[in-house]
Amino acid sequence: MKLKQEVNQVIQAAFDEAGIDATPISVSEATKPEFGDFQFNGAMALAKKLGKNPREIAATIVEHLKTDGVIAKAEIAGPGFINLWLDDNWIATRSSEAVADARLGIGVKENPIKAIVDYSGPNMAKQMHVGHLRSTIIGDTLANLLEFLGDEVIRQNHIGDWGTQFGMLIAYLEETGEESSVSLRDLEQFYKDAKKRFDEDPAFADKAREYVVKIQSGDSHCLGLWQKFIDISLGHCEEVYEKLGVNLSREDVRAESFYNDELPKVIDALKEAGKLQESDGAQCVFLEGDEVPVIVQKGDGGYLYATTDLAALHYRAQVLGAKRISYVVDARQAGHFKQVFRVAKEAGFVPEDVKLEHVAFGTMMDKSGKPFKTRDGGTVKLIDLLDEAVERAKEAIKDKSDYTHEQIEALAKTIGIGAVKYADLSINRESNYIFDWDKMLSFEGNTSLYMQYAYARIQSIFRKYGKQPEGEIVIGDELEHRLAMMLLRFEDVLERAAEDAAPSQITAYLYDLATLFMKFYERNPILKEGVAEETRQSRLQLANLTAKTIKQGLNLLGIDVVERL
Ligand code: ARG
Repeated sequence: MKLKQEVNQVIQAAFDEAGIDATPISVSEATKPEFGDFQFNGAMALAKKLGKNPREIAATIVEHLKTDGVIAKAEIAGPGFINLWLDDNWIATRSSEAVADARLGIGVKENPIKAIVDYSGPNMAKQMHVGHLRSTIIGDTLANLLEFLGDEVIRQNHIGDWGTQFGMLIAYLEETGEESSVSLRDLEQFYKDAKKRFDEDPAFADKAREYVVKIQSGDSHCLGLWQKFIDISLGHCEEVYEKLGVNLSREDVRAESFYNDELPKVIDALKEAGKLQESDGAQCVFLEGDEVPVIVQKGDGGYLYATTDLAALHYRAQVLGAKRISYVVDARQAGHFKQVFRVAKEAGFVPEDVKLEHVAFGTMMDKSGKPFKTRDGGTVKLIDLLDEAVERAKEAIKDKSDYTHEQIEALAKTIGIGAVKYADLSINRESNYIFDWDKMLSFEGNTSLYMQYAYARIQSIFRKYGKQPEGEIVIGDELEHRLAMMLLRFEDVLERAAEDAAPSQITAYLYDLATLFMKFYERNPILKEGVAEETRQSRLQLANLTAKTIKQGLNLLGIDVVERL
């Protein structure tokens, strides 16, 4: 439920009642329990506007405030703040409804939009490396989240499958024949070997160059080789997606090559819009206030990364009809996106009302604060990193249990992959972050293991109880009030996280929730003898809603829960 909106409405009603005109009204969450659940801080600004005393305005609002529904109590504090306490019965009813609902009481957007999330985008000439991890999982989370809230989400995997290096790669693929499907398992090595041939043998180099021209002119033999190369390379990526549990399939691929035929049209359209200027033989767009122009066509006729992105923007806005287009790409491409977004809008490729955003993220660092590399300075292959995560998870849980070998394997996958994803998603995405195995696989702190443990712990209460709870929630004390309040905030948190494209807001919430639950569980026994039945049922349901909320939250992050740990 949209909790904040409910509270805003009550304040609005008080304004209407008092005959004060002030919209929109916005309460904020109280920063301390002694300030209540929410605070309304608008009396000060209003007083200024009306030339009145803020405490007087606050008093008028409080006087007209209904306290027999959502809000139980209102107090004026300081210069004119209004502290608000929500009503226990109201909270209890709402959370009882939430626990009985498959969507936990979370609504579906009334005016959904078409939203495109551009993420992952690996280059086919190279192995997926850790840099692609961030785009892949942040993008997947954003797509899941928007979809859950009701938007129509179109996932776009803008893979790099075009460019001069493919001439060399397919010439080498042809030369090595069937074996290369195997040697292509290590793309990095394949690239190095091809490059070596290119540098050492002029005949091979000529052929490579000839093949570039041939692919570009649509030669079927070369295109066939190219297609084969892309298929194998994309297959590697899909192995990674599968391991990561990411929702990207072949249908989501709109490769750079998809836009080939559109590129000359981009140039024409820019010309028509009066945006094009020649500079040093190249076709450029100069943006006001920017020193460096956007080059869209080189002197030799070749197109660039920006040209393809302009074609993609046109396609996404005009053909797909997207109203929000999110690019989940490394922060180092900020300049590129700023420019192509501007060009696309100024040239009318994208209507004014379409939201274009670069969902930027920082670099993954090792413990010494340097960009994450293998011991010998190479790029870390994503697949190796994920395999290591599973191995390490096995290590972390091996003496925990009475599990069979198969159970350990399955559990290690869920825990290991979850740990890598959560560690990444829980960091403010724009910061660089330190990749630290020990920290991410810890049972303590803001980790996936902690969340999975909290969930499993609640399930163990139900196992002991012997059945699923089905009673009503009643608020028994301050701690239960706070727990229920936090549970009811879930939709507000998700909405905000979707707006800001910020998965870390979800993890921060989940962590606070799990921590508060642990406190509640310590102080408020559930199954212990002597607990009144009504209280037991209510506490079981609070635990139930907590578990469901954790599960739903992790689910949006693409992380599974475990029933036992
Ligand atoms: N292939 C690019 C890279 O690896 C990312 C593509 C991002 N998407 C886009 N539309 N430019 O850096």
